[in-house]
Amino acid sequence: MPGRAPVTPLFQEIRAAAPTISVGMLTADLLNLGSEIALLEAAGVKLVHFDVMDGCFCPIASFGPPLVKAVRTPLVKDVHLMIADPLQKVGDYVKAGADIVTVHAEAERHLHRVFQELAALENANDPGRGLLRGLALNPGTPLAAVEPVLEQIELLLVLAVNPGWGGQKLAAEAPRRLEQARRMIEDSGRDILLCLDGGVTRANIAEVVGLGPDLIVTGSAIFDGKAPADNARAMLDAVAVARA
Ligand code: DX5
Ligand code: ZN
Repeated sequence: MPGRAPVTPLFQEIRAAAPTISVGMLTADLLNLGSEIALLEAAGVKLVHFDVMDGCFCPIASFGPPLVKAVRTPLVKDVHLMIADPLQKVGDYVKAGADIVTVHAEAERHLHRVFQELAALENANDPGRGLLRGLALNPGTPLAAVEPVLEQIELLLVLAVNPGWGGQKLAAEAPRRLEQARRMIEDSGRDILLCLDGGVTRANIAEVVGLGPDLIVTGSAIFDGKAPADNARAMLDAVAVARA
């Protein structure tokens, strides 16, 4: 009988909110990040998604642990590491207050060790809260890459765009891959949160909810330069309607 995911308060909190959105900050006004996040909190958002890019795994660089740490928020800090050699670096993101640490299968030859390392660490915000370990897959990576580490993760992130930029179009293969991922999770007998990241808009969010993800990462649809709070509320409402 495969082991179930450890049921930590953090895991339960997200499971209870699912399906919901995790808002990507890549296209936010980074000079006013504090007030941007406060708007999201007021709109009812529960998770904030940090896209960390190192200019090596991804063509451009974004930010590192200091920015994750600098953000003061009650929202769940969902940290997506699009970086090379995460084994050496995950500890710094945990220290910076990450609640979810997601690494890429393509970025690490010692994936199993990364998850062992993360399992030994405590949530720096509150040790009793739990820390979630996530695995991310690029659109061109076979889903079979998940199988060896299924016992070690609490979240599986299916990237629906290529890593590096906000505002791209959802890949045509994304629905099929999400469905395959969902079946793999069901077959595993473990409760693993399924996350779809990239290319989600107001126009396609209802369809995306229908594919069964627990978390939907959305960035540019929120930070389109106009009204982030209204956009977030509209996306949350669309999720609520589509799940009903
Ligand atoms: C892609 C990132 C995504 C992306 C989401 O590199 O992992 O999180 O920025 O942004 P949108 O919603 O604009 O696709
Ligand atoms: Zn992301």
